[in-house]
Amino acid sequence: KSRTFTMIKPDAVENGHVGAILEKISASGFKIVAMKMTQMSKTDAENFYAIHNERPFFSELVTFMTRGPIVAAILEKENAVSDFRTLIGATNPSDAADGTIRKLFATSLGENAVHGSDSDENALIESVFHFSGREIF
Ligand code: GTP
Ligand code: MG
Repeated sequence: KSRTFTMIKPDAVENGHVGAILEKISASGFKIVAMKMTQMSKTDAENFYAIHNERPFFSELVTFMTRGPIVAAILEKENAVSDFRTLIGATNPSDAADGTIRKLFATSLGENAVHGSDSDENALIESVFHFSGREIF
């Protein structure tokens, strides 16, 4: 089995979708091996999204991701990275397939309810960014 990292983003927490999103994650065969509610600082978000720092939406992304709590989690399943990106759907919820988490719960392209790692390597980097060894089971 492999692992991926996810965040339920501030929009979905504000809109009361944490329970429904976790239910969908569990029902899709992912095991939660780490989880917490936390709020990223500006520096945290700038570092987490450093790969996007030249993009025109970078400051908007940092402002959004720091405006309230998120729920961070590490998920285990066969093909975790790829299967989780299928479950969440396209970045823009208007392009996301029916039944995907972003189709059901996202607000807009920027405020799109959930994050999912895009590779095994980034899943590990992002997991270690948010969790210490004794928080991962
Ligand atoms: P993540 O799982 O959150 O990494 O999304 P992704 O891999 O589907 O998209 P990408 O990594 O390309 O972009 C990261 C995040 O930046 C997206 O999830 C959006 O929240 C935000 N984002 C991407 N494009 C835009 C944009 O054009 N405008 C705004 N405001 N935000 C954007
Ligand atoms: Mg991404």
